[in-house]
Amino acid sequence: MEVIRTPAAMHSLRDELRGQTVTVGLVPTMGYLHEGHNSLLKAARAENDAVVMSLFVNPTQFKAGEDLSTYPRDEERDLAIAESSGVDFIYAPLPDDVYPSGFATKVEVEGLTEVLCGSETSRGPGHFAGVTTVVTKLLNAVDPDVAYFGQKDAQQATVIRRMAEDLEFRTRIVILPTVRERDGLAMSSRNAYLSPEARERATAIWASLLETESVFSESGLDAALEAGRRHLQSAGITPEYFEARYPGTLDPAEGTGTDPILVAVAAKVDGTRLIDNILIEPSSTSRRNP
Ligand code: PAF
Repeated sequence: MEVIRTPAAMHSLRDELRGQTVTVGLVPTMGYLHEGHNSLLKAARAENDAVVMSLFVNPTQFKAGEDLSTYPRDEERDLAIAESSGVDFIYAPLPDDVYPSGFATKVEVEGLTEVLCGSETSRGPGHFAGVTTVVTKLLNAVDPDVAYFGQKDAQQATVIRRMAEDLEFRTRIVILPTVRERDGLAMSSRNAYLSPEARERATAIWASLLETESVFSESGLDAALEAGRRHLQSAGITPEYFEARYPGTLDPAEGTGTDPILVAVAAKVDGTRLIDNILIEPSSTSRRNP
């Protein structure tokens, strides 16, 4: 496995690979790898000749007061995991090389980025501008045939798909299911912040989504959302949002009709911000996750 530290070195590598006509899969990460990342790496390994994993804690997607400075980092461990998952190349540039002095460009997706995590009472639309700008830079640097993202960040997935389509990126965007701990907690690098007590309480997030799904089939969307929110509150967790949206447009879901409904939640558990979601299939009300 080779570690590439600069955009220029990444471009040279890409030129070399192009000469060999290999297919390239990219797994973009901010490191502190867990099983969720591993499932993306495995898919990339199975489907491509060469696998690149980017490792970059992107400063522009954190707003002031968020956890940029404390975001968990352990490059040595990440490199060992990546190598054992069959990654060929790590692209780990420095912030100053990604955003050199004079950098002045933002890639923004309108509308989709102004709700849920993008609302002013949450991380704000600037969060997604940071994500779409860095993903554009990563796609330009690596020029992968396929890029892999996780469904846990459902809104990010929708925004990236929209951007890739609008800007005619030729990279195929693949979204893979959320990987969960045995008790249902969605895998996240931020789970490392949780105390044992908070870790236990955090299981209420996935349980509240399952509760929402089960009440939906009996009593409809309003009652289902109320039951889900109540479940969270009973664990002492006040959601930042707990909302039902259509997954492609992120418009509020009405609960009538047969279109799949994304129920998404963000909540702080003892100061650690966690997100999760479930996709409810009204026609069958059987769970599909993604
Ligand atoms: O999902 C993430 O880890 C990040 O948002 C991403 C896509 C690597 C961009 O920094």
